[in-house]
Amino acid sequence: MNLTDKLELAKNVALQAGEFLLQNRSFNVEKKAHHDYVTECDRAAEKLIRSALLSACPQDGFYGEEFGQAADGAQGSGQWIVDPIDGTTNFIKNIPTYTVSIAYEADGQIQLGVVLCPPLDELFWAQRGVGAFLNGKPIRVSSVSDPGDAVSGMGFCHRVPQDAQCIQSLLPALVSQLSDLRRLGSAAFDLCCVACGRYDAFFELGLHLYDFAAGWLIVEEAGGIVTGWPGDKSLAATGNVLATNSILHPWFEQQLG
Ligand code: IPD
Repeated sequence: MNLTDKLELAKNVALQAGEFLLQNRSFNVEKKAHHDYVTECDRAAEKLIRSALLSACPQDGFYGEEFGQAADGAQGSGQWIVDPIDGTTNFIKNIPTYTVSIAYEADGQIQLGVVLCPPLDELFWAQRGVGAFLNGKPIRVSSVSDPGDAVSGMGFCHRVPQDAQCIQSLLPALVSQLSDLRRLGSAAFDLCCVACGRYDAFFELGLHLYDFAAGWLIVEEAGGIVTGWPGDKSLAATGNVLATNSILHPWFEQQLG
């Protein structure tokens, strides 16, 4: 199956999973760790996505948030990277910014990214070299160049207390210099907000690849930049994400460095 067909498959599978999440509002919740929850729906949605992708693409591997590397996936050159619900706390509380995030990686790069926000009916996608889209229309990052006009998204990584403290220590200076800050609770959705110009930047420490793989490509294909934080060896290794409209990247690097 070529990449264009895989993109169509991923969009359809995301929509199926999104419909499942919208229809299932009664579920058990388990605490994985402090501030870290999982529901029956996270697991069921991952199974649904894995089965649909691997039955259509048996030569691919599959890595998901809830079950890790799929035993029934191949060890070929391509791999699906999936977060069935990015923003599980939002899903539990019925706050509409949770997403289904599906990325496809091959040849050492993310080739496709699909992020669906079911309650808002927003389907973002990108294909490497082809562009980024929201509900079929091309999207671009903002052209804001003055930090005083910029709105940035951010996330706290509650799993690692030092990371949460680091973010909190940066906030006073950022609040006083930026136009405003937001915390929506889904890193995949935050990245899509940078890609379509709602946000001018987004930053968080210690994300997992499944949280940001699809959004990473969507931002880049919309003309933005996604890197690790200053001093990081690589974004994929640390999960410390800085995404901007590219113009503001040096300013944010200075603030976070
Ligand atoms: C979480 C969301 C949240 C971010 C957390 C992630 P999950 O993903 O992306 O915005 O702040 O660090 O873990 O756990 O709901 O898939």
